Amino acid sequence: MTILNVVGARPNFMKVAPLHRALEQHDRFDSKIVHTGQHYDEQMSDVFFNQLELPRPDVYLGVGSGSHAEQTARVMTAFEEVVEDMEPDLVVVVGDVNSTLACALVATKLHVPVAHVEAGLRSGDRRMPEEINRLVTDRIADYLFVTEQSGIDHLRQEGVSDNKIFFVGNLMIDSLVHFREKAADTSIVEDLGVEEGTYALMTMHRPANVDHEEGVRALLRIIEDIAAERSLVFPMHPRTRNRFEEFGLEDELTSVEGLRLLGPLGYLEFLRLMETAAVVVTDSGGIQEETTFLEVPCLTLRDHTERPVTIEAGTNELLPLDPARVVERVREVAPTDPSAEQPRYWDGRTADRIVEVLEAEGHEASVPAS
Ligand code: UD1
Repeated sequence: MTILNVVGARPNFMKVAPLHRALEQHDRFDSKIVHTGQHYDEQMSDVFFNQLELPRPDVYLGVGSGSHAEQTARVMTAFEEVVEDMEPDLVVVVGDVNSTLACALVATKLHVPVAHVEAGLRSGDRRMPEEINRLVTDRIADYLFVTEQSGIDHLRQEGVSDNKIFFVGNLMIDSLVHFREKAADTSIVEDLGVEEGTYALMTMHRPANVDHEEGVRALLRIIEDIAAERSLVFPMHPRTRNRFEEFGLEDELTSVEGLRLLGPLGYLEFLRLMETAAVVVTDSGGIQEETTFLEVPCLTLRDHTERPVTIEAGTNELLPLDPARVVERVREVAPTDPSAEQPRYWDGRTADRIVEVLEAEGHEASVPAS
């Protein structure tokens, strides 16, 4: 059974790595990696292949950046040739990036079954490009692998039949469990001269926060005010760096005292920084989940989350991009309750559950929704 695992953007790599590893252990599966090239920089892509011990992609499409239509169309055109050429038995797409949607569409139209990992998550906000990608991908996928109960609930509400839905847990947590010790050996915390358990860690890149000047100015204010009170580490996404430049705010940012401003980090370095932070301030999807598993308080600067289990777990809180409120919460934040329960199936064994479903070709292996 030839399986094409699609990766495109940074948050995809840590989801595909454990699945590829698990598939490789079974003679029955021939697991291949297709990298669309949506992310292409050394620090946005190559470093993840090295650190996550992923082999070089079998196919690299090199699509690069562009508008949504351009990027999606380029992935589709290039991936269509790959599917026609390799004739896979299954295409696996993960998450909610443009490459996810593009490859799911191509495979389905060529009558190749599609598995979507991280199915059923919904923010309810159709202005987020990821929400459209999730909705369409789930509509056409054949196997819907779900990370949390809300995923099952949404898919059922949308009329998806139970025999397509598999509650398997969170592949990203498989990577975290696998690489946690290795991350602890990195020297990033010492190199930055920050003290474990005291500093704030920030990531910001959502278009809704950084694609307009008002948002970037609010973000700058938040950075200044947090850094005035405690060390702040901010590995900046290229989109965000571009926006600071575009709005002429780069000099103000680089001169903030107490701020460790960095480029994008490798997986292991970022994992270590998350694990020993006092608080994480983010607008990422995956970081809300990783901090839940690590029991580190997370403030998510968005109006809604497609990962409500992180709120229920008590580690994550939503806040608007409002400097006064964010700074106040960063000041007050207390360690999370270590006795709180982890979300179901976030245990490092999700890849094995997916393989079990694929081995049974979907029959009988369905993990029933609770
Ligand atoms: C994409 C995903 C988002 C995910 C994020 C993680 C979509 C719609 N969005 O957003 O869900 O959370 O990845 O990073 O798929 N750039 C570089 N080098 C790179 C890649 C991008 O410099 O390797 C710059 C380019 O200027 C590009 C911009 O970043 O135009 C945005 O990249 P893009 O892939 O369009 O979206 P992200 O914001 O990264």
